[in-house]
This record gives sequence, structure tokens and C-alpha cells, in this order.
Amino acid sequence: MKILNYPHPALRVKARPITSIDAEVQKAAAEMLELMYGHEGLGLAAPQVGLDIQLLVMNFAGDHEKPELECVAINPVIVEKKGGLINDREGCLSFPGLYQNVRRHKTVVVKYFNLLGEEKEMTASDLAARVWQHECDHLNGTLFIDVMGSLGLSRSQKDLEKFKADFEKAKKKGELPPGLDAKL
Ligand code: NI
Repeated sequence: MKILNYPHPALRVKARPITSIDAEVQKAAAEMLELMYGHEGLGLAAPQVGLDIQLLVMNFAGDHEKPELECVAINPVIVEKKGGLINDREGCLSFPGLYQNVRRHKTVVVKYFNLLGEEKEMTASDLAARVWQHECDHLNGTLFIDVMGSLGLSRSQKDLEKFKADFEKAKKKGELPPGLDAKL
């Protein structure tokens, strides 16, 4: 399993709902958590590793030592957004090194299933709310460059051109991670 960088087409796929939490889903979640910690990320969505399923892993502290802040979410839905918009710095593991301000709702109410198949509902604010919104966007093929606004986007152009050039280079060499044919 490998993190796919922009502009890999797997990042634009609309993820399918998970219908059964089997050993493969559990294995995918464990591997995604490991990758996320290894890259010092706060969250990782299944499309970022080439799986078109509605699976997210998060740790709002980004810290192995704080497992209580770890969350694996299956078929998550943001049911309510409130508290206005906050503009703050944000990055994404599929855009290494790129950080821009993005407006996100201060508070969200989310519903999801955990790995035991239990339905959960929680209210998240500030950084945790930002991570939820960013990761749920991934499941719809939406990336932070789509929601960062024109100023952030124009400031990102140089990085985006570099990502595109690297992608084309890897494609020519036949080194692209497959991504899209991975199925669960
Ligand atoms: Ni991301």
C-alpha cells in the first residue's frame, strides 16, 4: 500500500459504501493507520491509497502515543455543519509539502460506523472538525485545492505543476502505483 499523489485519477473517484466489515477492510484500516503515522498525517482516506471504499483513518493529535484520539470511520456522513467558517492552514498527504489556508466549518456533527460495526455519532470542533471535513471530501473525489479559494489556488500553481510533471514522468517510466484496479 502506497499513498497516491495528485494528480493520480484514483483521488477523483467517488468511493463506494462498505457493505461488510470483513478481514480485508480491517487489514486496510490497519495499513492506512500505519502509513498515516509514518507520514505524520492527521488523516488518510481510502482513495488516497487506491481503494474506492468509504473508509477513513484519523488521529487528531497525529500521535501514536494518543490512541484515544485515533478513529477509524466507515461510511461517514457529515450530518450538520455549524459555527461559521474558519480560515486556517491545511495540508494533504497526497500533496506533500503544499500548505494553504482553507475555510472550514468550526463544528461538524458526524455519523459513521466503527470497525465493530457500531454506529457512532460525534460532534467535532476546530482541528478535529477540519480533519473530518477534509477526509470526507476525499470520499467524494474532492480535494483541498477545490475548496481553498482562488488566492490559495494561485499560490499553489507552482507546486501543482511540479506534481503534474512528476506524475507524467512516473507514468512514462511505468512506475505509477496502480490504484484504480485495487478492489475490496
Ligand atoms: Ni488529504
